[in-house]
Amino acid sequence: MIQKQWFWTLPVVLMITGALAAVGVAQNVAKEKEFRIERSMPKEAIACIECHKREHPGLFADWAHSRHASANITCYDCHKAEAFDPDVSQEHYKQYQRSDQPYGTTEYKIPVAAVVTPKDCSRCHPDEAKQYSLSKHANTMEIIWKIDPWLNKGMNSDVERATGCYHCHGTVLKMKDGTLDPETWPNVGVGRINLDGSKGGCTSCHTRHMFSVMEARKPEACGQCHLGPDHPQIEIYMESKHGDIYTAHGDDYNWTAAPGTWSPGVDFRGPTCASCHMSGAGTTLTTHDVTERLSWEIQAPLTIRPSDFKPFPAKTNWQTERDKMKVVCTQCHGKTWVDNHYVKLDKVVAEYNDVYFKPAKAMLNQLYDNGLLDKTKFFDERLEVEYYELWHHEGRRARMGTAMMAPDYAWWHGFYECKKRYNNYMEEARDLIKHNKKAYQATDYPNATGNTSKPKEVFPTDP
Ligand code: HEC
Ligand code: HEC
Ligand code: HEC
Ligand code: HEC
Ligand code: HEC
Ligand code: HEC
Ligand code: HEC
Ligand code: HEC
Repeated sequence: MIQKQWFWTLPVVLMITGALAAVGVAQNVAKEKEFRIERSMPKEAIACIECHKREHPGLFADWAHSRHASANITCYDCHKAEAFDPDVSQEHYKQYQRSDQPYGTTEYKIPVAAVVTPKDCSRCHPDEAKQYSLSKHANTMEIIWKIDPWLNKGMNSDVERATGCYHCHGTVLKMKDGTLDPETWPNVGVGRINLDGSKGGCTSCHTRHMFSVMEARKPEACGQCHLGPDHPQIEIYMESKHGDIYTAHGDDYNWTAAPGTWSPGVDFRGPTCASCHMSGAGTTLTTHDVTERLSWEIQAPLTIRPSDFKPFPAKTNWQTERDKMKVVCTQCHGKTWVDNHYVKLDKVVAEYNDVYFKPAKAMLNQLYDNGLLDKTKFFDERLEVEYYELWHHEGRRARMGTAMMAPDYAWWHGFYECKKRYNNYMEEARDLIKHNKKAYQATDYPNATGNTSKPKEVFPTDP
C-alpha cells in the first residue's frame, strides 16, 4: 500500500524536480555551480527509501520534507561508500539478507557509511565546504590540543571530554569491530575529524535530514554550543535589542528565503547570529567561515588580532573583516551609530588587556618564578583557577557583552566580576609573596586521568 503511494508520487516529484532544475540553472549561470539532478533513481536508492520508510519513519519524514527530496537527492547520494572505505558499515550488509522486507535481498546490496562528511557534501556544495574548511570551527581540534591545559595537562577524564568538550568541538572518529566506536560516535561537533580526513560535521547547524537553512538562520542553532559562563553568546543576544526584536517579531521573519537572498530589513527586522556572522548582506557575501568579519580574538586571554593568533593564525586582515561586518550593520543603521559602537568595543578591549589581564598574568609569572606556585600541572592550585576564570569567564563576558550590545554582560557579569576576582586574586598572591609561602596543591585532584598525547590524526608528525 505505502509502496504504491510512493510510486504514484514519484512522477510528480520528478516534474517538480525538473522545474526546480530549470530555475536552478537560470540562477546559477554566473556561479558555474553544477547540481547533478538525476531524473530517475537507481533501484538501490529506491530500496533505501522504501525500507527505511518502514524502519525509521521519523528519519524518512525529515528527508521527505527537505530540499534534497524535492531535488531528487536520495539517501544513496549522501551515504554512498566504497566497499574498502574505512567507515563502511559492515553491519548494514545484513539488511540485504532479510526475508521480511521486499528490499532486503542481495539484488539491492550496496555499501553504505553512516558518517556523511563535508567531503561528501562537497560533491554538490563545494563552496560551502571550502569556506568551512578554513574556519576555526573546522580546525578547532588542532587549536584546543595546542593550547588547552584541560587536555594537554590531562586535568579531566576521557568521559568528561567525550560528553563535554568533544560534543561541541568534535572528536576523532574511530571504527571498532566493523562499527563506529561508541567512545567517538555519535558526534556532530564542529571540528569532528572524519575517517576520510575531512574536518567537521555539517549537521552541527543543519540537523539531518531536513538540512534546513531556516534552522541554521535561527539563533538557537548556534546557542547549543555558544552559551554558558565562558562564552554566553546566546544569552548576550537574547538580552540585546536585536534579540528583543527577534522575540517580538521573529514569527514574521521570512526564514525560508532562498539561500544567499536572505536580506536585512527585507526578510527580517533584527539580525540573528547567522545574519551578522554568516549570511550575505549588501556587498558582504554569504560565508561558511565564521572567522571572517572578526577584528579581534575576544575569547583569548590577551585580546589580539585574528592574524596574530599563534595556534591558528587567520589569513585575514582585521580591517577588511571589520568593514565586511559594518556592511551588515549599515543595512539597518547609519555609519556613525556603527562606527561609535566599534569605538566602544576597542576601548573595552584596551582596558581589559591593560588594566586586568596584563597585571594578573605578570603576577602569575612572579609566583611561578618564586616557586610559590608549581608549573607542572594547571588547576591544582587555587590561584591558577582564579587567574583562569578572570580571563576565561568574566573577562570574556565583558568583551563579548560589549561586542554584541548586552550591557548586563558587559558590566554585572563582566567588569564588575573582573574587579572582584582581581582583588581577591591579588590579595592572596601578595600574601603568599609576603610570607614566602607555597600555595596549597591538590594532590588528589579528581579525575586528572585524561590522555595527554595529541591525536595522531591531527598532529601526524608529533612524537
Ligand atoms: C544530504 C545528505 C543526506 C541524505 C540525502 C540522507 N542522509 Fe542520512 N545522514 C546524513 C548525515 C549528514 C547524517 C549524520 C551523520 C554525520 O553526522 O556524519 C546522516 C545520518 C543517517 C543515519 C544515522 C543516524 C541515526 O540517527 O541513526 C541513518 C540511519 C541515515 N542517515 C539514513 C538515511 C536514509 C534512509 C536516507 C534517505 C531517506 C538518508 N539518510 C538521506 C546525510 C544524508
Ligand atoms: C531492507 C531494509 C534496508 C535497506 C534496503 C537499507 N537499509 Fe539502511 N538500515 C536498515 C536498518 C533496519 C538499519 C538499522 C540497523 C540497526 O538499527 O541496527 C539501517 C541502518 C542504516 C544506516 C546506519 C548505519 C550505522 O552503522 O549506524 C545507514 C546510514 C543506512 N541504513 C543507510 C541506508 C542506505 C543509504 C540504503 C540504500 C543504499 C539503505 N540503508 C538500505 C534497513 C535497510
Ligand atoms: C548529490 C548532490 C548533493 C549532495 C551530496 C548534498 N546536497 Fe545539499 N543540496 C543539493 C541540491 C540539488 C539542493 C537544492 C538546491 C538549493 O536549494 O540550492 C541542496 C540544498 C541544500 C541546502 C539548502 C536547503 C534549504 O533549506 O534551502 C542545504 C543546507 C544543504 N543542501 C546541505 C547539504 C549538506 C550538509 C550535505 C552533506 C551532508 C549535502 N547538502 C549534500 C544537492 C546535494
Ligand atoms: C557547550 C559547548 C562547549 C563545551 C562543552 C566546551 N566548549 Fe570549548 N568552546 C566552545 C565555544 C562555542 C567556543 C568559542 C568561544 C568564542 O570564540 O567566543 C569555545 C572555545 C574554546 C577554546 C578557545 C579556542 C580559541 O580559539 O581560542 C578552547 C581552548 C576550548 N574551547 C577548549 C575546550 C575544552 C578543552 C573543553 C572541555 C574541557 C571545552 N572547550 C568544552 C564550546 C564548548
Ligand atoms: C555554523 C553553522 C553552520 C554549519 C556548521 C554549516 N552551515 Fe550551511 N548554512 C548555515 C547558515 C546560517 C546558512 C544560511 C545562509 C543564508 O542565510 O543564506 C547556511 C546555508 C547553507 C546552504 C545553502 C546555500 C548557501 O550557501 O547559503 C548550503 C548548501 C549549506 N549551508 C551547506 C553546508 C555544508 C555542506 C556544511 C558543512 C561543510 C554546512 N553547511 C555547515 C550555517 C551552517
Ligand atoms: C556544535 C557546536 C557549535 C555550533 C552549533 C556553533 N558553533 Fe560556533 N564555535 C564552536 C566552537 C567549539 C568554537 C571555537 C573554535 C575554536 O576557536 O577553537 C566556535 C567559534 C565560533 C566563532 C569564533 C570564530 C573565530 O575565528 O574566533 C564564531 C564567530 C562562531 N563560532 C559563530 C557561530 C554561529 C554564528 C553559529 C550558528 C550559526 C555557530 N557558531 C554554531 C562551536 C559551535
Ligand atoms: C548585530 C550583529 C551580531 C549578532 C546578532 C551576533 N553577533 Fe557575534 N559578534 C558580533 C560582533 C560585531 C563581534 C565582534 C567582532 C570583532 O571581533 O570585530 C562578535 C563576536 C562574536 C564572537 C567572538 C569571536 C571571537 O572569538 O573573538 C562569537 C563567538 C560570536 N560573536 C558568536 C555569536 C553568536 C553565537 C551569536 C548569536 C547567539 C551572535 N554572535 C550574534 C556581531 C554579532
Ligand atoms: C536587520 C537590521 C539590523 C542589523 C543588520 C543590525 N541592527 Fe542593530 N538594531 C536594529 C534595530 C531595529 C535596533 C533597535 C533600535 C532602537 O532601539 O530603536 C537595533 C539596535 C542596535 C543598537 C542599540 C542597542 C540598544 O540596546 O540600544 C546597537 C548599538 C546596534 N543595533 C548596533 C548594531 C551593529 C554594530 C550591527 C552590526 C554588527 C547591527 N546593529 C546590525 C537593527 C539591525
